[in-house]
Amino acid sequence: MSVIDEIKARVDIVDLVSETVQLRRSGKNYTGFCPFHPNTRTPSFAVFPDSGTWRCFGQCNEGGDIFKYVMKKEGWDFPEALHYLAERAGVQLTPPTQQQQEAAEEHDHLRALLEEAATFYHHQLMNTPGGKIALDYLLQKRGLQAETLESFALGYAPHSWDAILQYLRSRSHSEQELLDAGLVGQRDEGGVYDRFRHRIMFPIRDERGRMAGFGARILNPDDVPKFLNSPQTAVFDKGRLLYGLDHARRAIRSLDQVVIVEGYLDVIALHQAGYANAVSPMGTALTEHQLNLLKRFSKRIVLALDPDAAGNAATLRGLQIARQTMEREQDPVFDARGLLGYEARLQADIRVTVLPEGLDPDEVVNRDPKEWERIVAEARPVVIHVMETLASGRDLDDPKIKSEIASQVLPLIEDIPNPVERDTYRQRLARLLRVDERALLGSAPGGARSRPKPRGEQRRQPSGSSTAAPEAESHSRTVSSSYLLEAHCLGVLLRRPGLLYQVDRLLLQEGLPRLIPNDFQHADHQSILRLFQDSIDQDMTEPLDFVFNNLSLPMMDIADSMLERTEKFDPSDDRVLDDLMRGLLDLRKRNLHQEIDYQRYLLQEAQEGADRQQNSLLETSQYLETMVQLTEMKRRLDQAISQYTGHSTVTRAAKSAA
Ligand code: UTP
Ligand code: MN
Repeated sequence: MSVIDEIKARVDIVDLVSETVQLRRSGKNYTGFCPFHPNTRTPSFAVFPDSGTWRCFGQCNEGGDIFKYVMKKEGWDFPEALHYLAERAGVQLTPPTQQQQEAAEEHDHLRALLEEAATFYHHQLMNTPGGKIALDYLLQKRGLQAETLESFALGYAPHSWDAILQYLRSRSHSEQELLDAGLVGQRDEGGVYDRFRHRIMFPIRDERGRMAGFGARILNPDDVPKFLNSPQTAVFDKGRLLYGLDHARRAIRSLDQVVIVEGYLDVIALHQAGYANAVSPMGTALTEHQLNLLKRFSKRIVLALDPDAAGNAATLRGLQIARQTMEREQDPVFDARGLLGYEARLQADIRVTVLPEGLDPDEVVNRDPKEWERIVAEARPVVIHVMETLASGRDLDDPKIKSEIASQVLPLIEDIPNPVERDTYRQRLARLLRVDERALLGSAPGGARSRPKPRGEQRRQPSGSSTAAPEAESHSRTVSSSYLLEAHCLGVLLRRPGLLYQVDRLLLQEGLPRLIPNDFQHADHQSILRLFQDSIDQDMTEPLDFVFNNLSLPMMDIADSMLERTEKFDPSDDRVLDDLMRGLLDLRKRNLHQEIDYQRYLLQEAQEGADRQQNSLLETSQYLETMVQLTEMKRRLDQAISQYTGHSTVTRAAKSAA
């Protein structure tokens, strides 16, 4: 039996899936709501214990075995999933060599030593006269609460050359061990001395909470450096750790977002204020190791950057220089370009937000927590961030300035592997600089020139009589009529946001639920509707701006093309609402039919199970009841549809394009 077979034999797929999905028995199989797509109506997710597989019959239309499930759920690659499941199954992948075993023991030993040191420093902070100055500083000047000092186990390193040395020696640790742990330095003339003196101590742990090292901040403003970290040791590699991740991992996963800030105290203050998804790369540029570590918890990454270090126009140059000088080092340093590359490779969503001038996150959140929320919510995709910061405050009527900005941004855009994103950004840049997109294509160095006609032009080709006819998407050959109908309805709504209220009112009048994202089958459309609903619920920004500011990268293009589709359409036309209703009701009817089909299938399964006496009659009757409800819904829907028949340009447009 291969290791993989053995793991499969030992891990029960129903147990595994049940940890996140509430499963219901249906015959010999199980069903539930798919954990991979937003959905609360149809239990489209099925688990087949016999074959050890699962499948989503709904939007994902995807399935696999336990490995695939874990990979998809955690965002892991196969080796990571294998590792996890092997451990869970108690299957030894490859027995560790003696060397590995010895190294592991040594690491554990170092960690235990560092743990003792952390306890010592913490005690110095909380309970000694020497630590009082540090304690007062943290409580009074930095606004930390006592519980926070406890949970992050902050400490104080005494004003002494041998405090930690004496303490740990008294606990029978050797000088060599202390050197290995990075707690002491070696004197030229022999002997060792405390590395950290008269500093605030931040214990740094790995994502599992195991001690790795310390960051140490000055108390005396004249001391240098401001922060002193543990040196590289067997367990401390700064580029592979993120400060706070042990505390933040759960929040990162549940919020599906991580916010990266610069400082230790920023992380701590944010956690204290309830924003527990913050971590810090501790002064170094982000490494790919750190990003790989994060991707297991979330691929939605927000960089909260200081305006002078990273936010203003100098940022970009600053980052590029940093990259050049660091190129010799092992880890790639992430500048805008590096981030984009990473984002593409990992299908991550990396955004940048800029802090108010002169304020660190800890100051922002201590002043006004809502302001922090707003800053995070305003994070923009990297390219947009770069183009907008370069353009801000410049005279965009000056052709020289336009071309200077274009020449800085275009190389970034041309690097992006995804043509849809590339086009989107080029369009955004053209709009920002108020130039024709074709001019940008001409000036782009490299590949762009060889590209076929710009998309805008393809769209403007004559397209028959209908003004609103949706045209085939150039990046997709098989666009279904339902896709076009959905896109068209959304396009109309984007042009006239106020119609959403009217639509909801009319639906309610017919005894039908309001419009919800699930009325749309395509994931991109679902999220646009969701955003669109959010945009109506806020009143800080124009709905359309809100939608565009919050769209993820490839989606911007989709929304753009929706708007283009409805470019010539006259929003003041009275028939618009009728047309829109008709289109939306059609979508609903299509979904309802699918749901009825699926319920029928579940019902049959349950009945067969009942025949074999495997299954409760109760379950069968539940499905029957659902069927009755669905049928009633269908009756109301048909009734509503009959009121909106007639001259519908929306549906006609979609049909003629299909
Ligand atoms: P900052 O200098 O911005 O400090 O460095 P800070 O975090 O705002 O500190 P406070 O608010 O004055 O207490 C940001 C981060 O860069 C790393 C540290 O991780 C620090 O938190 N850093 C900075 C170093 O590692 N070494 C240094 O000399 C300076
Ligand atoms: Mn600070």
